[in-house]
Amino acid sequence: MIFSINNYNHISTFYPFLEKLAFGSTLQTFRHLIVKSIRFKKKILIIGEGNGHLLKIIMNDLRNINITIVEDSSSMCMKINKFQHNKHGNEIKILNAGIEEYKNFFIHDCIITSFFWDNFESSEIRSYFPTFSDGISSDCIWINVDFHDHTYPSSPSEIVNHLLIRFLYLFFGLTTGIKAKRIFAMKNLALENGFSLVKEAHQSFPFIVFECFVKDNFSSTYSINPIES
Ligand SMILES: C[S@@+](CC[C@H](N)C(=O)[O-])C[C@H]1O[C@@H](n2cnc3c(N)ncnc32)[C@H](O)[C@@H]1O
Repeated sequence: MIFSINNYNHISTFYPFLEKLAFGSTLQTFRHLIVKSIRFKKKILIIGEGNGHLLKIIMNDLRNINITIVEDSSSMCMKINKFQHNKHGNEIKILNAGIEEYKNFFIHDCIITSFFWDNFESSEIRSYFPTFSDGISSDCIWINVDFHDHTYPSSPSEIVNHLLIRFLYLFFGLTTGIKAKRIFAMKNLALENGFSLVKEAHQSFPFIVFECFVKDNFSSTYSINPIES
């Protein structure tokens, strides 16, 4: 791990419990939505998998696919290892590495980032995103799922959501050392950098967005100044 300072090793054991406590089955519902959206994909890359919840659903539901996982935490990798059996002809490669070390984005036809980019400050995203974005091929879909925070929360649910996100950043800052303090609007960054949004789903409270992007072949402009939503 070259630049990475996030460390989920300390909380990998409690992560599923904390997830259930805070969100019930909500995140699991989004994992099922992800898997429904990648049925015809054959070379899947999951960045920041966590402890294997998404992989488990993929292994049960999909056949004859190639899955690569890039996960920075060695403890999370050990948990993911449980699923490394050849089920339904699926092949898994687990790389204990940070996104900053991975270069082969172009070999995949599907890339998944779920509650991943919210771990980083805008300066870190600015440094990782160009290699990620340039590397994605035109037949690849990129699925991004993350929390949504409103710049000016006004309704009661937006305010509570905002406070929940503040609390999550405080908790993860203390337990994993992440320095990020706010959600970075990946949608704006994607649209400004040659991606088109082909599918979007929202949930209100907690506010979560599911976004599926493809590379827009006609655009070659590059921008890394997202407009915060
Ligand atoms: C908030 S968890 C999300 C886990 C899972 N994707 C989910 O939806 O529940 C973030 C994950 O990203 C991993 N991670 C953090 N920094 C990373 C990096 N630079 N490269 C790859 N993975 C990283 C963490 O170890 C952790 O497993």
